[in-house]
Amino acid sequence: MTDVADTTRWGAKAASLYDGAYAARYRSHDESLVESAAYGAFVVWLQQVCGMWPSPFDALDLGCGTGRYFCALRGVRTLIGFDASSDMLAQARHPLHEDRITAGAITLVHGDLMEQDFGAERFDLVYSIGVLAEHVPLRPALVASVARWLRPGGRFALSTVHPESPSVPRTRTSPGLRTTRPAAATRRTTSRRSGPTGTRASSTTAGTCIASRRSSGRSSSGSSRRTRS
Ligand SMILES: C[S@@+](CC[C@H](N)C(=O)[O-])C[C@H]1O[C@@H](n2cnc3c(N)ncnc32)[C@H](O)[C@@H]1O
Repeated sequence: MTDVADTTRWGAKAASLYDGAYAARYRSHDESLVESAAYGAFVVWLQQVCGMWPSPFDALDLGCGTGRYFCALRGVRTLIGFDASSDMLAQARHPLHEDRITAGAITLVHGDLMEQDFGAERFDLVYSIGVLAEHVPLRPALVASVARWLRPGGRFALSTVHPESPSVPRTRTSPGLRTTRPAAATRRTTSRRSGPTGTRASSTTAGTCIASRRSSGRSSSGSSRRTRS
């Protein structure tokens, strides 16, 4: 496991929240979660995302926790599971349905996503579930970083947060993130250009969002879908 020493208060907060005891509970919860509709919906969604370009491709799980979703991936050559909690990463060494994982190689990396740099054009897919706007702010700077890490044609797939979630005021530290009322969000998504990279991010009520990076710098249409509320 690679270790990154520097951390922001967000990373430090996550590391202290997801300590050894919590990580062990989280991992045992993975086993019962497989029966839940919400988990099943995220698995189906991730598999749809994985089917969006030819395999094999390279992926990053941003805030992977115990690696709950590693087994859902298809067509992945290399996967980096990244998290601020070394205890969660310790659990991710033997994740849910380990025997069903098809990724060619998995590397677990310890660090803080608020300051991590993976370098340019490293991944085809970056996904993040239950992290952005829940544990850390979803800032335009982070979206721009992810866009840089993505190869042209790559995608950023993330879960979104219900506007009435208590996480929203906790993580809203910049005016960049807009929320919509649940009723409105079923009719439309809100989109924002985020930097010169051609990546467009969409936010809506609790659910999922996919943003794609175009090589030409043209904007792309984000798509979103509610999977939990
Ligand atoms: C609710 S868990 C989600 C884990 C996994 N994605 C899942 O869906 O099961 C949130 C995870 O985000 C990680 N996290 C929160 N803030 C982080 C940060 N600044 N950098 C890296 N990871 C962070 C936590 O350590 C935790 O493992």
